[in-house]
Amino acid sequence: MADKKASNRNLTKAKNTKNDEFYTQYFDIEREINSYLEYDPNIFRDKTILLPCDDPEWSNFTKFFAQNFERFGLKKLISTSFAPDSKTYKDGYQPTLFETNDPQFDEKKTVTNGKTFTLTHDKSGDNKIDFNDLEWTYLKGDGDFKSEEIKKLRDEADIIITNPPFSLFRDFLTWIFEAEKQFVIIGSMNAITYKEVFPLIKDDKLWLGNGFKAGNAFFSSPMNNDYADGVFNPDTGLVKFRNVVWYTNIDHGRRHQPLPLMTMADNIKFSRHKEIKGKEYQKYENYDAIEVSYTDAIPSDYKGVMGVPISFLDKYSPEQFEVIGMAEDNGKGFSGGIWDGQNPHCVINGQNKFKRIFIKHRQV
Ligand SMILES: C[S@@+](CC[C@H](N)C(=O)[O-])C[C@H]1O[C@@H](n2cnc3c(N)ncnc32)[C@H](O)[C@@H]1O
Repeated sequence: MADKKASNRNLTKAKNTKNDEFYTQYFDIEREINSYLEYDPNIFRDKTILLPCDDPEWSNFTKFFAQNFERFGLKKLISTSFAPDSKTYKDGYQPTLFETNDPQFDEKKTVTNGKTFTLTHDKSGDNKIDFNDLEWTYLKGDGDFKSEEIKKLRDEADIIITNPPFSLFRDFLTWIFEAEKQFVIIGSMNAITYKEVFPLIKDDKLWLGNGFKAGNAFFSSPMNNDYADGVFNPDTGLVKFRNVVWYTNIDHGRRHQPLPLMTMADNIKFSRHKEIKGKEYQKYENYDAIEVSYTDAIPSDYKGVMGVPISFLDKYSPEQFEVIGMAEDNGKGFSGGIWDGQNPHCVINGQNKFKRIFIKHRQV
């Protein structure tokens, strides 16, 4: 529990200090992407995939898609990086040998420009298309995803996949939706409640992906040492976050598995939560809904609206539930058309404190 709190605190810290340098593990990418392939083996066939905000020379995203280029039947893979000089974290930049040994190497551009790596065909002549066939060049600009240069690549792509900078998550998502692309991206679970994000969830235009194993996301970061014990593990060299999820608009199987639930009566009899067992489900004072503080305590037979924690979305199946709205815990605003902005939010016993998502069973 202390570990969980520390992990959450550290993601906030990353936001405050604008540490956007978190590098995703190969295993996590593989696990996530496999869940889309299991659902539709042809999901990537003949598609152009763009991996923006990457560092293609050593990014696991670039490695993973390049190594699986043929298996996935890709048409084109494009990966772009952000110029070292434009990054918030600049310490200790060294161009790779791969770059310095290349005739294109440019001492100035290596720090001021981004790079683009492209894969379409077998360049090396070894009869397979893989990482060794990537062709690279410096970008004209710094590789900012908002630049016209990268927007052009976005428009060319069918699917955008990356771990975007946490500090620019809202802008990044808007950038994807502007171009109506398919996507698989990593972000903080807190982004669920952003006003740019929640309406998309409610309308089933964006949902959570399959997710990190046991909810633990491990990243490498040059700021590793700034993280607390238990978050940074010196043995693995990785930092661990508990509240990081994948966001996507590509379908996967887990999304269609209904949550197994008990009736309200059985919950009250058998629930493992002391707040539920032997008690009544409480109603909010200012909204006709019941408070369900644990996803596994959602009663299977309740016909009305229920307020659940935001982590419910990790278990959300659109065939089982309808998402109706959301209440903030800060008394400031509302989403989903329920609160009028004047009312307090989710009040029980005079206390206004819950950040909740409102849901209803599709059929009871
Ligand atoms: C969270 S890291 C992820 C890196 C890589 N995709 C991975 O997961 O291993 C985000 C990267 O985006 C870069 N970045 C920050 N602002 C950017 C921008 N405006 N445009 C493009 N990239 C940016 C950061 O420097 C960082 O390298």
